[in-house]
Formats: sequence, structure tokens, C-alpha cells
Amino acid sequence: MTEKKTAAVVLAAGKGRRMQSGVPKQYMSVGDKPLIYYALRAFEESVIEQITLVTAPGEEEFCRREIVKPYGFKKVRQIVAGGEERFHSVYRGLCALRNCDYVLIHDGARPFVTPQMIARALSGAQQYGSCVVGMPVKDTIKVSDFDGYACQTPKRELVWAVQTPQAFSYKLIKTAYEKLFSKKDVAVTDDAMVVETMLNRQVKLIPGSYYNIKVTTKEDLAVAEVFLKEYQKEEWKKKKSKKILKILKK
Ligand code: CTP
Ligand code: MG
Repeated sequence: MTEKKTAAVVLAAGKGRRMQSGVPKQYMSVGDKPLIYYALRAFEESVIEQITLVTAPGEEEFCRREIVKPYGFKKVRQIVAGGEERFHSVYRGLCALRNCDYVLIHDGARPFVTPQMIARALSGAQQYGSCVVGMPVKDTIKVSDFDGYACQTPKRELVWAVQTPQAFSYKLIKTAYEKLFSKKDVAVTDDAMVVETMLNRQVKLIPGSYYNIKVTTKEDLAVAEVFLKEYQKEEWKKKKSKKILKILKK
């Protein structure tokens, strides 16, 4: 069997309007690093072979010089300009890929994706063709009518908050996006929805993590700082256990 080729499209071409800050949120500092660093590092350390970074037009060189080079992200093979909406940016990323069998699409604004989660998403794509990570919601969710009255209460255990990475067979997601762009009115909020609506295919939901938040508003930055400390503690614990095991084996 020939080796299957894997790639990630990491999105960082948004304007971060809801963050209301001068600097685009992907370059704001969390800990002592730009927000986008964390997602790139997770993919760099994962089973994925190569990364396409999508930035706002005109920011490609900045990303190469200030992020990809200094942090030594060797898997970032190309930096391409994104588009007006997220789905435009995704499509540009997908079109830039050559020789790819499986692709993971990830919001650069989700810093706490892990190499383990990436591996789970890839396995899901290999098994089901389409798979997205998410978590069951903790709150009861109500659907409202147009007048603001609750009209439906879905069973909580069946409602998921969807995250990224969203992972697909490359051929399948590319076909779905091509179909989307052949339509007149295009409005989608995630990649799974493109597969569901354009190809009428099922998308498998697999566990992500409650840590895997999207940094969207100012409040999320404070949460990200706290999560980062937890995360660093975990990493440190892992390193320490590895060291102990090594000594014990001697
Ligand atoms: N994104 C993108 N291209 C766009 C819009 C969004 O690559 N035209 C990326 C963002 O950079 C982010 C991810 O998609 O990593 C999720 O989008 P979101 O959180 O909505 O970020 P922004 O669009 O930047 O924020 P806002 O909606 O508040 O303007
Ligand atoms: Mg947005």
C-alpha cells in the first residue's frame, strides 16, 4: 500500500473584529508567544506531514519572518493569502495543496489543540471520510423562534459544540467546496456543514477537549492565559515522568 499524504490548513486570515484590538488577534501575545504559535507548534509536533498557513493578504512575509522562521516551524511549506470570509480562506488553502490524501482544517485561534487530538482527527478522517472534533455541551440549549421565544429544547446529550480540527479525505472536501462555490448564495460557518449540505454525507463527531477553546473576545484571552499555565504544568509533568522512567530502566 502506498503511504497516504497528510496536510493541515491552519487559518489565520481573519480580522478579529470581536476582539476589538489594534493588533489582529492571531498575533496578540498569550504567555510570551503570539497566539498563532501554539496551534502551529501542535501541528509541527503531530503526525501531519506538512502545514499550509493561510494569512491575510500582505501578511505572508511578516508571518514567515516573525513566526515561522524564528520558531523553526519546518512543516510550514507554504504561506498563502486568505479571503474575505473563513470559507474563502479554507478554499484558498485547499487549492494550494498538491498530492494530498487527508487534510485537517484548523482555526489558528484555537491554541490548545494537541498532537493527540490531531492524531484522533486524522484516524477519524481515514475511517469515516469526514470527521470533526467537538464536545457535548454543558448547558441546556434552546432554539428560539424569530420573536425570541423558546421553541425547541434538544436532548442535551445529543448537542455538541463543534471545534477544529475538522478532518477530511482531500478529494471529498475539495469537491464539496467546489460545489459550494458554484452556488449563488454561500453562507457556511464550518467545513463539516459544507460536506453535509453540498454532498449530503454524514460527518462523524469525535471528542476534542473542553480546553480547545477559540479565542474570540477579550474574555477568552484571560481564559487562555490560565489554560496555558495548566498546559505547561502538564507538559512539565510529562517530561519529568519520562525522565524518571528512563532512570528507573537503567
Ligand atoms: N479566518 C480566516 N479568514 C477569514 C476569517 C477567519 O482565515 N476571512 C480564520 C481566523 O483567523 C480564525 C478562524 O478562521 O483563526 C476562526 O474565525 P474567527 O474566530 O471568527 O476569527 P476572525 O474572523 O478573525 O474574528 P471575527 O469573526 O471576530 O472578526
Ligand atoms: Mg470570523
